Amino acid sequence: MLARAAIFAVAASVMSVSAQLQILAPGGPNLWWVAQSENNIVWNCQESQFQNFTILVANGNPDVLVSPEAIIAIEPNFNCDIMITTQQANLPVADNYTVQFANPLNSSDIYAQSQPFAIMALGAAYPATSATPTASGTATGSSSSTGSAASVTKSSGASLNAVAGGPAGLAAMGVVLAGLVGMGV
Ligand SMILES: *[C@@H]1O[C@H](CO)[C@@H](O)[C@H](O)[C@H]1NC(C)=O
Ligand SMILES: *[C@@H]1O[C@H](CO)[C@@H](O)[C@H](O)[C@H]1NC(C)=O
Ligand SMILES: *[C@@H]1O[C@H](CO)[C@@H](O)[C@H](O)[C@H]1NC(C)=O
Repeated sequence: MLARAAIFAVAASVMSVSAQLQILAPGGPNLWWVAQSENNIVWNCQESQFQNFTILVANGNPDVLVSPEAIIAIEPNFNCDIMITTQQANLPVADNYTVQFANPLNSSDIYAQSQPFAIMALGAAYPATSATPTASGTATGSSSSTGSAASVTKSSGASLNAVAGGPAGLAAMGVVLAGLVGMGV
């Protein structure tokens, strides 16, 4: 039964082809940033409909940030994740930040926004590796993936990565479909 459930989960992820650009990390209660430290942004590059974007950090509280702050002027989608240094973003400890990806020519044109997240004080633990989604594999807008090898929060989502990838993904889908046929569904 477990194997069968896993196959259906993989099949469902293969079939979600109409998904749009989404920021996978940071965001939500389990994926925070740590102040005065390097922090990661991860997005679903395989499903993105944009080749590049400006990365901004916003906060609903004007005492924290008066307006969204651009931290990366232009980021190619195919990178799939980026490590933000303290030089690029030196933001105060607070709740309710969001990361925004916007049109490089018009930063009011928001392509995607993360779930709200906190920036914790220096010295706080990073989020658990297991909580951090991965986005490696072949991205849209590029024939090869150049994901950052320096990423500290990457975990091994081997099967999902294989499915999300190009030729490997198609091969995996073939295996899935063969499996479904074999089970008589
Ligand atoms: C960004 O993407 C647009 C297409 O959306 C493309 O025309 C432009 O050349 C790209 N810019 C860079 C710097 O890659
Ligand atoms: C968080 O920010 C949003 C706007 O981005 C605002 O509507 C909301 O009230 C804020 N929540 C808290 C708890 O400050
Ligand atoms: C920038 O984007 C916003 C939101 O999509 C839009 O309302 C505005 O007209 C755009 N500005 C220009 C100069 O295109």
